[in-house]
Amino acid sequence: MTETLHAHLKFVSLAFLIILIVPILAPAGEENVSRGARIFASNCARCHGKQGKGDGPDLVKLQSAVSPDDWTDKQSNQELTDTFIVSMITKGGKANGKSRIMPAFSGKLGAQDVQDLLAFVRSLPR
Ligand code: HEC
Repeated sequence: MTETLHAHLKFVSLAFLIILIVPILAPAGEENVSRGARIFASNCARCHGKQGKGDGPDLVKLQSAVSPDDWTDKQSNQELTDTFIVSMITKGGKANGKSRIMPAFSGKLGAQDVQDLLAFVRSLPR
Protein backbone atom coordinates (compact mmCIF):
# COMPACT_ATOMS: atom_id res chain seq x y z
CA MET A 1 0.00 0.00 0.00
CA THR A 2 2.63 2.53 1.05
CA GLU A 3 4.66 1.42 -1.93
CA THR A 4 1.93 2.23 -4.45
CA LEU A 5 1.34 5.54 -2.72
CA HIS A 6 5.04 6.23 -2.96
CA ALA A 7 5.14 5.39 -6.65
CA HIS A 8 2.09 7.53 -7.18
CA LEU A 9 3.68 10.50 -5.42
CA LYS A 10 6.84 10.08 -7.43
CA PHE A 11 4.86 10.14 -10.63
CA VAL A 12 2.91 13.22 -9.59
CA SER A 13 6.01 15.17 -8.62
CA LEU A 14 7.74 14.14 -11.83
CA ALA A 15 4.76 15.32 -13.83
CA PHE A 16 4.80 18.65 -12.00
CA LEU A 17 8.50 19.04 -12.64
CA ILE A 18 8.02 18.48 -16.36
CA ILE A 19 5.15 20.97 -16.47
CA LEU A 20 7.37 23.55 -14.75
CA ILE A 21 10.52 22.97 -16.78
CA VAL A 22 9.27 22.50 -20.36
CA PRO A 23 8.19 26.15 -20.89
CA ILE A 24 11.53 27.32 -19.49
CA LEU A 25 13.52 25.16 -21.89
CA ALA A 26 11.46 25.89 -25.00
CA PRO A 27 13.31 28.46 -27.12
CA ALA A 28 11.75 31.87 -26.53
CA GLY A 29 9.20 32.85 -29.13
CA GLU A 30 9.73 29.92 -31.49
CA GLU A 31 6.02 29.89 -32.19
CA ASN A 32 6.05 33.63 -32.94
CA VAL A 33 8.90 33.12 -35.39
CA SER A 34 7.08 30.42 -37.34
CA ARG A 35 3.86 32.45 -37.40
CA GLY A 36 5.88 35.46 -38.51
CA ALA A 37 7.48 33.41 -41.28
CA ARG A 38 4.06 32.47 -42.66
CA ILE A 39 2.83 36.09 -42.56
CA PHE A 40 6.08 37.18 -44.22
CA ALA A 41 5.75 34.61 -47.02
CA SER A 42 2.29 35.82 -48.00
CA ASN A 43 2.68 39.58 -47.49
CA CYS A 44 6.31 40.60 -47.72
CA ALA A 45 8.42 38.10 -49.65
CA ARG A 46 7.41 39.47 -53.05
CA CYS A 47 9.46 42.58 -52.25
CA HIS A 48 11.76 41.46 -49.43
CA GLY A 49 12.71 38.15 -51.03
CA LYS A 50 11.91 34.64 -49.85
CA GLN A 51 14.77 34.73 -47.37
CA GLY A 52 14.43 38.38 -46.34
CA LYS A 53 17.54 39.43 -48.21
CA GLY A 54 15.78 42.45 -49.73
CA ASP A 55 15.72 41.03 -53.26
CA GLY A 56 12.08 40.22 -54.02
CA PRO A 57 10.94 40.14 -57.67
CA ASP A 58 8.35 42.92 -57.26
CA LEU A 59 11.00 45.56 -56.57
CA VAL A 60 11.99 45.42 -60.23
CA LYS A 61 8.38 45.42 -61.40
CA LEU A 62 7.63 48.49 -59.29
CA GLN A 63 10.86 50.13 -60.46
CA SER A 64 11.92 50.69 -56.88
CA ALA A 65 14.83 53.09 -56.61
CA VAL A 66 15.80 51.64 -53.22
CA SER A 67 16.32 48.11 -51.97
CA PRO A 68 15.28 47.01 -48.50
CA ASP A 69 18.04 45.83 -46.18
CA ASP A 70 19.37 42.28 -46.14
CA TRP A 71 17.87 41.12 -42.84
CA THR A 72 20.01 37.97 -42.84
CA ASP A 73 23.07 40.17 -42.42
CA LYS A 74 23.78 40.44 -38.71
CA GLN A 75 25.01 44.02 -38.76
CA SER A 76 22.22 45.39 -40.98
CA ASN A 77 19.69 43.60 -38.81
CA GLN A 78 21.13 45.03 -35.59
CA GLU A 79 21.06 48.55 -36.99
CA LEU A 80 17.25 48.39 -37.22
CA THR A 81 15.45 49.22 -33.97
CA ASP A 82 12.28 47.40 -32.91
CA THR A 83 10.43 50.72 -32.98
CA PHE A 84 11.50 51.43 -36.56
CA ILE A 85 10.62 47.93 -37.80
CA VAL A 86 7.17 48.11 -36.19
CA SER A 87 6.59 51.65 -37.51
CA MET A 88 7.62 50.67 -41.05
CA ILE A 89 5.24 47.70 -41.00
CA THR A 90 2.26 49.53 -39.54
CA LYS A 91 2.63 53.01 -41.09
CA GLY A 92 4.60 52.21 -44.24
CA GLY A 93 7.61 53.86 -45.87
CA LYS A 94 6.20 57.29 -46.64
CA ALA A 95 5.19 58.06 -43.03
CA ASN A 96 8.73 57.12 -41.98
CA GLY A 97 10.47 59.32 -44.54
CA LYS A 98 11.30 56.23 -46.60
CA SER A 99 10.19 54.83 -49.95
CA ARG A 100 6.45 54.96 -50.55
CA ILE A 101 6.75 51.55 -52.20
CA MET A 102 6.84 50.02 -48.70
CA PRO A 103 3.11 49.69 -47.91
CA ALA A 104 1.39 50.37 -44.57
CA PHE A 105 -0.06 47.20 -43.07
CA SER A 106 -1.96 48.59 -40.06
CA GLY A 107 -5.28 47.98 -41.79
CA LYS A 108 -4.40 44.42 -42.75
CA LEU A 109 -2.32 43.01 -39.90
CA GLY A 110 -3.04 43.00 -36.17
CA ALA A 111 -0.64 43.88 -33.34
CA GLN A 112 0.19 40.21 -32.75
CA ASP A 113 0.97 39.70 -36.45
CA VAL A 114 3.38 42.64 -36.31
CA GLN A 115 5.10 41.23 -33.21
CA ASP A 116 5.42 37.84 -34.94
CA LEU A 117 6.93 39.53 -38.00
CA LEU A 118 9.39 41.33 -35.75
CA ALA A 119 10.35 38.01 -34.12
CA PHE A 120 10.81 36.49 -37.59
CA VAL A 121 13.02 39.38 -38.81
CA ARG A 122 15.18 39.04 -35.68
CA SER A 123 15.54 35.28 -36.18
CA LEU A 124 17.14 35.64 -39.63
CA PRO A 125 20.82 36.42 -38.99
CA ARG A 126 22.92 33.29 -38.37
C1 HEC B 1 5.52 46.31 -52.54
C2 HEC B 1 6.83 46.00 -51.97
C3 HEC B 1 6.93 45.76 -50.48
C4 HEC B 1 6.17 44.95 -49.70
C5 HEC B 1 4.99 44.08 -50.12
C6 HEC B 1 6.71 45.04 -48.37
N1 HEC B 1 7.78 45.88 -48.33
FE1 HEC B 1 8.90 46.40 -46.71
N2 HEC B 1 10.01 47.64 -47.82
C7 HEC B 1 9.89 47.81 -49.20
C8 HEC B 1 10.91 48.74 -49.66
C9 HEC B 1 11.14 49.20 -51.09
C10 HEC B 1 11.63 49.14 -48.52
C11 HEC B 1 12.83 50.10 -48.46
C12 HEC B 1 12.36 51.46 -48.05
C13 HEC B 1 13.47 52.49 -48.05
O1 HEC B 1 14.59 52.15 -47.66
O2 HEC B 1 13.19 53.64 -48.43
C14 HEC B 1 11.03 48.43 -47.39
C15 HEC B 1 11.47 48.57 -46.08
C16 HEC B 1 11.01 47.83 -45.02
C17 HEC B 1 11.53 47.91 -43.67
C18 HEC B 1 12.63 48.84 -43.17
C19 HEC B 1 13.97 48.12 -43.14
C20 HEC B 1 14.50 47.82 -44.51
O3 HEC B 1 14.75 46.63 -44.78
O4 HEC B 1 14.66 48.74 -45.33
C21 HEC B 1 10.85 46.99 -42.93
C22 HEC B 1 11.06 46.64 -41.46
C23 HEC B 1 9.90 46.35 -43.83
N3 HEC B 1 10.01 46.90 -45.08
C24 HEC B 1 9.05 45.34 -43.45
C25 HEC B 1 8.11 44.74 -44.30
C26 HEC B 1 7.21 43.71 -43.89
C27 HEC B 1 7.25 43.02 -42.55
C28 HEC B 1 6.39 43.46 -44.94
C29 HEC B 1 5.23 42.50 -44.99
C30 HEC B 1 4.22 42.63 -43.97
C31 HEC B 1 6.81 44.32 -46.03
N4 HEC B 1 7.85 45.08 -45.60
C32 HEC B 1 6.22 44.34 -47.28
C33 HEC B 1 8.96 47.21 -50.02
C34 HEC B 1 7.96 46.34 -49.61
